[in-house]
Amino acid sequence: MRSLRVLITSGPTREPLDPVRFISNRSSGKMGHALVEAARTAGHRVTLVSGPVALPPPRSVALQEVETAEEMRRAVMKAASRADVIIMAAAVADYRPLVKARSKIKKRAAEMLLRLQKTPDILAELGRRKRPGQILVGFAAETENLRRHAARKLKAKNLDYLVANRVGRKDSGFDSDHNRAFLLARDGGTRSFPLMSKTLLAKKLIALICPK
Ligand code: CTP
Repeated sequence: MRSLRVLITSGPTREPLDPVRFISNRSSGKMGHALVEAARTAGHRVTLVSGPVALPPPRSVALQEVETAEEMRRAVMKAASRADVIIMAAAVADYRPLVKARSKIKKRAAEMLLRLQKTPDILAELGRRKRPGQILVGFAAETENLRRHAARKLKAKNLDYLVANRVGRKDSGFDSDHNRAFLLARDGGTRSFPLMSKTLLAKKLIALICPK
């Protein structure tokens, strides 16, 4: 089997409001870290770019820890040109506060408006810069119309695979040890994975995504 250079992102990002507060999401990093372990065990050379997670750092991989979407973008773009396979499993925050206050925001009025701006879409940028032969994989967390959204995202971001999870259920998705997923390939091929451990799902995904 060929040993590939696999770049994986995992975990959430944190978008600061002030020195003590941030906007983030429920991503635990369990799926991304399971993919790292599966790729490493399969003999690939793995680089992990991880947002803040409570998991132990994986062994024998090049690890770069980041906090914000912008930091993740910089780390990913630096490593991307050398990667054969890129798997964006991180739950990158879609929006960040327009301004980051330099000192802690004090409470005053009873209501307060927060202005947000879009973060850079790392996956879309990778899709635009993809070199021939490079395999690009995106994740999508959806609460409804899984297949329709998956097909739209795969095309819009120039992906080779899209892994769609249904979120908003207790037994799978964010922070669970289990997941069910649906894999859509660029050629239109699909695979459904019933509820299983993230460890097993990661093994199956790596076997399908990384060419032998
Ligand atoms: N992603 C990214 N950069 C962002 C946001 C998301 O690279 N700023 C990546 C994630 O790592 C994931 C995929 O894009 O692989 C998720 O796609 P996205 O369209 O952002 O999904 P949703 O956040 O579910 O978008 P929507 O709100 O449109 O459903």
